[in-house]
This record gives sequence, structure tokens and C-alpha cells, in this order.
Amino acid sequence: MSDELITRAARDIVKAKKVVALTGAGMSVESDIAPFRGKGGIWEKYDPVEYAYIDTLRTNPAKTWILLSEMQREILKAQPNPGHLSLAELERLGFLSSIITQNVDGLHHEAGSKNIIEFHGNHRQAYCMECRKPIKSEEISLETLPPHCDCGGVLRPDVVFFGEAIPHEALTQSDQETRSCDVMLVVGTSAEVQPAASLPGVARSSGATIIEINIEPTSFTGYTSTYFIKGKSGEVLPKITDIIKNQSANLTS
Ligand code: OAD
Repeated sequence: MSDELITRAARDIVKAKKVVALTGAGMSVESDIAPFRGKGGIWEKYDPVEYAYIDTLRTNPAKTWILLSEMQREILKAQPNPGHLSLAELERLGFLSSIITQNVDGLHHEAGSKNIIEFHGNHRQAYCMECRKPIKSEEISLETLPPHCDCGGVLRPDVVFFGEAIPHEALTQSDQETRSCDVMLVVGTSAEVQPAASLPGVARSSGATIIEINIEPTSFTGYTSTYFIKGKSGEVLPKITDIIKNQSANLTS
């Protein structure tokens, strides 16, 4: 992890008029939630084509719920890590405008962040596919799969499956945030899933500085990203936040 780049990031954030963060699964790895891609990733164990498409949920919900129940158990016991807490603190201090997250684990909420755009929904909420009645995931028994609503319909989490559209509001809000920021922090995303992966390019074209934080380079690195900080989000973000808290007056000069 480069101290020079950490200080540069702190300075860019303090000087910016508007900072937005785009976060991905890497953000929650230090909260013991598996990412999708790479070693130990969910897609290593479950082929997304077989398990994660909306058609499978409709035609064979018991199969999709094998994956969903595993995710639900992991998410419901997870706690925010220092990376989530740092983003919440930056918002509280007035240095972060919003978080656009691809994560469905709700950990940015748990950490205290307020302005969150959940691009792929939230796994802590579910609803019945028949009567649409909402239910909290923690109230769903996973003993028999798929879980059912009182009305007999199958329950589903309020997340975006492959083959489904991104919620309209999330799409328009994130587009506005992306086009109006002058710094975008891109944290723990593999840059592989559209349309979320196009946001940093849009921000860059609108003149924003793109600060990428990841344990390994992605297709953004060296192209879309203005600079790349190699490291864990739970270590890099607290360092940046500490510098901002302790030296913000010096950083603007
Ligand atoms: P991925 O699992 O594709 O990528 C996770 C990224 O996090 C990788 O680039 C890792 O190198 C990085 N990473 C891992 N641990 C890290 C750490 N401690 N600190 C920083 N970075 C770390 O996750 P996403 O890019 O979020 O969509 O995936 C995007 C979408 O693909 C997900 O929202 C999901 C999935 O299919 C849907 O389910 C619709």
C-alpha cells in the first residue's frame, strides 16, 4: 500500500466539491462475505447461468434458494468492517456525498451511511412472488426450500437477478451522482458487470478523478482509473479517513 497515494487520495477528497463511492463485493470480504469472482468466490461454487437467472427462480425456485439461503445466512451474521465504517464517517464529516453499491448485504446501512443507492437491491428484504407482501429476510425460515409466504406463493429476496432490470430509481440516481461528482472512489469491484461497470467511465468522461482501491488490478486500472491503490478496503479507507480527520486544513493548501 503506497503512503504517497493514500495522502494523494485524502487530498483529492478534501479538495473535491463532490465525492461519490462505487462499491462492490470486495468491500465486504473483510466482513466474511464471499465475493462473486476469484478464489473462494460464489461463482466458483455455483454457476450463475444455472443458479442466478430470474428464469431459474421462476421455474426451479428450490435450486436458486440453495444459493440464496447460503447468501442469506452469511449476510445476516455479518458486521460492517472498518472500510464500511470509514465511508460512513466520511459522509458524516461532509466529505462523501453518496455510495452507489452493487452489494446486497446492507452493510453500508449497518455502518451508518445514509445516502446509499442499492444498485442490485438488498438481501435483507424479501417479498412474495404471488401477493407481493414484503417480509424481512431474518423472519424467513430456511428449513424447507424454497420458503413460502402465508398465501402459498414463493418468497424471493429483493435483489436483482441476472435477466432483470436495475430498479429505475437506482439507475437515474446513480447516473446523476456519477455525472455530478468530481471524485469517484471505486472500491472492491471487479468491473465485470454492466451497467454498474460503466459508471466510472462516465464519471471520468465528465472530468472526475477516479481513485480505485482493490487488492488486485482490474480492467479499470491504468485506463478508467486515474490512479490505483493496491490494498484491502478495510485497511486503505481507514488510513485515508484518518489523514482527512487529522490534517484536512493542511491538505487544501
Ligand atoms: P466481484 O466478486 O466480481 O469482485 C470483487 C472484487 O473485489 C475483485 O476485484 C477483488 O479483487 C476485490 N477484492 C477482494 N477482496 C478485497 C478487499 N478486501 N478489499 C478490496 N478489494 C477486494 O464483485 P463485484 O464487482 O461487486 O451481481 O460484482 C459485481 C456483481 O456481480 C455483483 O453485484 C453480483 C455479481 O454477479 C448480481 O448478483 C446481479
